[in-house]
Amino acid sequence: MKLLAPSILSADFSKLGEQIKEVEEAGADIIHLDIMDGRYVPNITFGIPVVESIRPITKLPFDAHLMIVEPEKYALDFIKAGVDMVSFHMDATIHSHRLVDLIKSNGAKAGVVLNPATPVNTLEEIIHYIDYVLIMSVNPGFGGQKFIPQTAEKVKKLKLLMEETGRTDLLIEIDGGVSKDNINYLSLLGVNIFVAGSAVFKGDIKENVRILKQGMEICI
Ligand code: DX5
Ligand code: ZN
Repeated sequence: MKLLAPSILSADFSKLGEQIKEVEEAGADIIHLDIMDGRYVPNITFGIPVVESIRPITKLPFDAHLMIVEPEKYALDFIKAGVDMVSFHMDATIHSHRLVDLIKSNGAKAGVVLNPATPVNTLEEIIHYIDYVLIMSVNPGFGGQKFIPQTAEKVKKLKLLMEETGRTDLLIEIDGGVSKDNINYLSLLGVNIFVAGSAVFKGDIKENVRILKQGMEICI
């Protein structure tokens, strides 16, 4: 499964609704929502009222990437606002397993996020309970950063852990610096969900989506 998830962090917020419709028409698969609280990461974005107001605009699933401390306090509110997938950083919460349970029992998919310096083996226990893993390929906090090459190695390590634990059904999402130049390589490594902010919203949105989707297709 190969899915493109434009991050609206790089959208023009004065025409957010229009741009969401545009990516949907162009063939995007998921809308990625970067939720930042100014504490877990040094930036503040948007919260529940924005998610509620854009929910009726599109049929695409919403993927909330929570870059907030104590994500357990807000996960349910995001699900109620119409989010279908919720991911959180393990070091932002004390009880990861409980949070995964909360997310899944309220009908959303649960994902865990690895920062560039977080080792893949952190997932060894939680891997049995989650639906997807988000590998950060930049340090979280800002759009438009450069892809950190070493993070691609983590996709390989994650694939091995998935084999070892019998969780080959897990989806792998990658986020940060994804572009037309690296998307095919990442796809070949086994990434399923490609988050792209600036590579989608800077310039011609429709053409960008087309090129990225083409790049996602594996051709050897
Ligand atoms: C960074 C965010 C990313 C970011 C991606 O903290 O999680 O989703 O918006 O933006 P680009 O694709 O521009 O790196
Ligand atoms: Zn993100």
